[in-house]
Amino acid sequence: MASFGVVAFIFLILLVECYARPLYPLPSKTDYKNRQPLQTFRPYNIAHRGSNGEIPEETAAAYMRAIEEGADFIETDILSSKDGVLISFHDVTLDDTTDIAEHKEFANRKRTYDVQGVNTTGYFTVDFTLEELKTLKVKQRYPFRDQQYNGKFQIITFEEYISIALDASRVVGIYPEIKNPVLINQHVKWPGGKRFEDKFVEMLKKYGYKGSYLSKDWLKQPAFIQSFAPTSLIYVSNQTDLPKILLIDDVTVPTQDTNQSYWEITSDAYFDYIKNYVVGIGPWKDTIVPVMNNYLQTPTDLVARAHASNLQVYFILKDSRPGIDLSFQISTSLPSDSARINWTPMVHPYTFRDENVFLHFDFHQDPYNEYEYWVNKMGVDGLFTDFTGSLHQFQEWNSPFSRKDGDASTLLHEIARLISKYGKK
Ligand SMILES: *[C@@H]1O[C@H](CO)[C@@H](O)[C@H](O)[C@H]1NC(C)=O
Ligand SMILES: *[C@@H]1O[C@H](CO)[C@@H](O)[C@H](O)[C@H]1NC(C)=O
Ligand SMILES: *[C@@H]1O[C@H](CO)[C@@H](O)[C@H](O)[C@H]1NC(C)=O
Repeated sequence: MASFGVVAFIFLILLVECYARPLYPLPSKTDYKNRQPLQTFRPYNIAHRGSNGEIPEETAAAYMRAIEEGADFIETDILSSKDGVLISFHDVTLDDTTDIAEHKEFANRKRTYDVQGVNTTGYFTVDFTLEELKTLKVKQRYPFRDQQYNGKFQIITFEEYISIALDASRVVGIYPEIKNPVLINQHVKWPGGKRFEDKFVEMLKKYGYKGSYLSKDWLKQPAFIQSFAPTSLIYVSNQTDLPKILLIDDVTVPTQDTNQSYWEITSDAYFDYIKNYVVGIGPWKDTIVPVMNNYLQTPTDLVARAHASNLQVYFILKDSRPGIDLSFQISTSLPSDSARINWTPMVHPYTFRDENVFLHFDFHQDPYNEYEYWVNKMGVDGLFTDFTGSLHQFQEWNSPFSRKDGDASTLLHEIARLISKYGKK
């Protein structure tokens, strides 16, 4: 396995050489016939910012590594440059994950803006043209991760990110976030009064992303649209039927657009409202199972009961007492509104990280224990992980493709899997 890893990595580096240049025109002409389809029988492996546990986040190399390791979806954050080009980048400022500090020519670009009610100082992506952003190099966020790839890779555009997914030799979904829409719409103006959200959907349409969850179109090019800003998700609901996921932050963080509290957006009434627009939620995992002194507290049965009911129920998140503990209820009464009946809530918690510093003591410093807990005990539908490889290995051992619940095409996929490098690991 070690030698396979080295060979794979050399191959990756060769590929990355090509990606160091701009990727246009996009996507490539590569035409894979009969791509291995997206698996839908087990929780999704969502590569959070690519395989950023290994390679600097949201770079082409991090995404390609994640695909190589078995990601079902590659996840990204969409922001904008000053000249209105959508980019894949997590922070609104360039300070923590690029070499901006070494670029003396940009020393006068430091600004202070109100970001979700907090005065934030730094080099903002919205003050740099794409051409300028492309002169920067990305680096690792955490000091305890591999630093050897610092300074090697550029920031990529939304288009380049999409092309990486479309060029994969099997079907790989995308999971882009409408990131900080309030700030972006304040600082970037597009012709015709278009909003950030309009440009976001235009890009998805340009590359053929469409269709409701699990529809034929969707399975061909799977995509989830995610955001912490409910008004952005509602705004795009008239423009695309792609499935949307409402991200839910820590209990102390209000929504960035509507300034609603955690308690408000997880109330009965709010779920009743938002489920007309989203197919699920993306909560921080520590709000589903509260943590104290690095130990898990009594888990809620939210996910398990939602699935056990085997009915198109809607579920209600309800806080039972102040603090961070929660209890959950499921309503099995059929809603009168038909839109609700088709709403099968999904739960994709974030973020899974292999390192000891992130693992709660209950997991005995073993990330497989954590996956086991969330996949088998909590029964979530997808996991945002910094380490696609470890989640994939876990899934392959835990729930490999099975012939018994398959038909001829499943059998073909099984064979494809066995002869693919993913099956050999
Ligand atoms: C941010 O800075 C401005 C200008 O100094 C100030 O007026 C404002 O109150 C500050 N806002 C916060 C939330 O601290
Ligand atoms: C979507 O379109 C319908 C019909 O035009 C309109 O009534 C509704 O307000 C729109 N919703 C949003 C969120 O723009
Ligand atoms: C957001 O809501 C909180 C709590 O209700 C309030 O104190 C704060 O002033 C609000 N912030 C804005 C920007 O409206």
